[in-house]
Amino acid sequence: MTLPRLLMSPPEYFDVVYEINPWMSVRRKVEKKHAVKQWENYHRLLVDQLKVKVEILDPVRGLPDMVFTANAGLVYKRLFVRSNFRHRERQGEEPYYEKWFKKKGYKVKTVDAPLNFEGEGDALFMGGELFAGFHFRTDVVAHEIISGYIKRPYFSLELCDKRFYHLDTCFAPVDDKTALVFMDAFEPYSRLGLLENIPDPIEVPEKEALNFACNAVILGQDVILPEGCPKTEDALKKRGFRSHSLDFTEFLKAGGAAKCLVLKL
Ligand code: ARG
Repeated sequence: MTLPRLLMSPPEYFDVVYEINPWMSVRRKVEKKHAVKQWENYHRLLVDQLKVKVEILDPVRGLPDMVFTANAGLVYKRLFVRSNFRHRERQGEEPYYEKWFKKKGYKVKTVDAPLNFEGEGDALFMGGELFAGFHFRTDVVAHEIISGYIKRPYFSLELCDKRFYHLDTCFAPVDDKTALVFMDAFEPYSRLGLLENIPDPIEVPEKEALNFACNAVILGQDVILPEGCPKTEDALKKRGFRSHSLDFTEFLKAGGAAKCLVLKL
């Protein structure tokens, strides 16, 4: 199996200076040194140990959430569907993403304003189908437009708990059969849909979901997730996956962990 290339952006200007999700508090500042160390450990695991190719996007002063490249947009083959952020605080990131992808030769599209779409944070492929979240950050109407751009079927999932404001905070496709999922973050109808569409769901307990267990990155048989999720790790190991747990505590202060920090290219 060929591993995907990933896009990351170093935490040089990462901080919590505004509050756009319930995890963020401007009174709980980021420990810059720790954040850099946590990000570097993660980068090292990806590059040195797992042999993943990681591309770097230069961070920009004044755009503290730019470390969360998962929200840049959605990549499908040579097309980049750029995000339209819901919150003004993150809209300044948009031109930097667009510029990077254009320079790399991608075709760039977006959904038209006033529609919002927050990239891979709310759009994850599972077995050729796009599982797409909506409610807090992405508009449901955007799903159909994106599905039309990439010509892949989609499946809309409604989020209902503001702590799990992006789909990638409560759902992670592991392979064609298995996904990590925190069911309580979804509206009842979406829960039924998940159970119908996922042959072997790993239902993550609330305690671990609050630790961002579902914000996992799956690279073949290797899974990277935050420390403190033993039940989730056991369930993965039982299915033959290797888990790597890392410290993401500084990024959790902004409501992000492993998955939010990378974008599949
Ligand atoms: N502070 C960021 C925000 O609220 C965190 C983004 C996390 N990214 C993700 N893919 N869930 O927008």
